[in-house]
Amino acid sequence: MLAELFLRVWYGNSNLSSTIGYFSKYQSKAMSDTNTGRRKFLKNSSIAALATGIIPAFAVATKAAQPAIGGCNPTTLDYYGEGPFYTQNPPDIVNNQLAGATEAGTRISISGVVRTLDCTEVIPNTIVDVWHANDPGQYDNSGFNLRGKMTSNEQGFYLFETIYPGKYLNGSVYRPAHIHFKITPPGFPTITTQLYFEGDQDLASDPASSITSGNFNASDRIISLTDNGLGTLEGTWDIIVDGDGVSTGMDDIHLNNGMIYEVAPNPYSEEVNIRYGVFKKSKATLSVFDLNGKLVAELSEEQLNPDKYTATWQPDASIPSGHYFVSLKINDMQVHYQKTLLVR
Ligand SMILES: [Fe+2]
Repeated sequence: MLAELFLRVWYGNSNLSSTIGYFSKYQSKAMSDTNTGRRKFLKNSSIAALATGIIPAFAVATKAAQPAIGGCNPTTLDYYGEGPFYTQNPPDIVNNQLAGATEAGTRISISGVVRTLDCTEVIPNTIVDVWHANDPGQYDNSGFNLRGKMTSNEQGFYLFETIYPGKYLNGSVYRPAHIHFKITPPGFPTITTQLYFEGDQDLASDPASSITSGNFNASDRIISLTDNGLGTLEGTWDIIVDGDGVSTGMDDIHLNNGMIYEVAPNPYSEEVNIRYGVFKKSKATLSVFDLNGKLVAELSEEQLNPDKYTATWQPDASIPSGHYFVSLKINDMQVHYQKTLLVR
């Protein structure tokens, strides 16, 4: 059966998509389970299916840089700077949890990638220092509740889970819900700013969040939150700053070599299916990493011909709930990854 499959490519963040091409007239093929490895954490059902020799036609957009949430505009300072409630030397955030499990409020998860000013590279080891008010709108000014810092990982990625910030009065009006950020790429100046949320009725009246141009333009710092179906609202915010970047090989040029085009279901509890394509004869490696960049599972490493493949990951019971990256390497160069959420 011939079919045209319209692809949307997801660049690691679930909210960010970019249409880049088609598999045209791709012929469905019988699949055979080639899992014989009995490796502990995985079940790999990659397919050979080479008999017809059909190579997926693949058109790539001509963007030079990896797209970022809201475009590739430098992250702006907030008009209010750090505000009056910053406390020096916050602790490291443990297990990505800024808010403890008993913290009152709506759970939210904020993640993104720290990128260089031209968005072609990511910046690892960037210190991302965050603080915000609790659900009733109060800061902990004697301790470090809802205060903490993390560093972006090797892929420039950061993530923390917390609660939706409460509001507090600024004179006679409420400030919109916001999270304060101090962002420090290694060897570069600190960017002090604030992040806001779409739909907040107090955005328009706030002197800082209502600014739509100039040095304090807040437009790209107002993000949407999407319910992940598990009671947590997820938001994505990429940070675009001056810094020493590293290439992840994940620009569109390398998407000529292969890509992950579906991870489903996501979130998942028992197993997740990964559909990916290899576009030239090469060694393809499909792996799973945790947020710290530690290898959790190797799903497949084999010499493959151009085709579509499927792998299934069944995480061992010892693997905790959390976010994991599925990574596709072609000839040892990472060409694509996607963020997934395991929920036990
Ligand atoms: Fe504040």
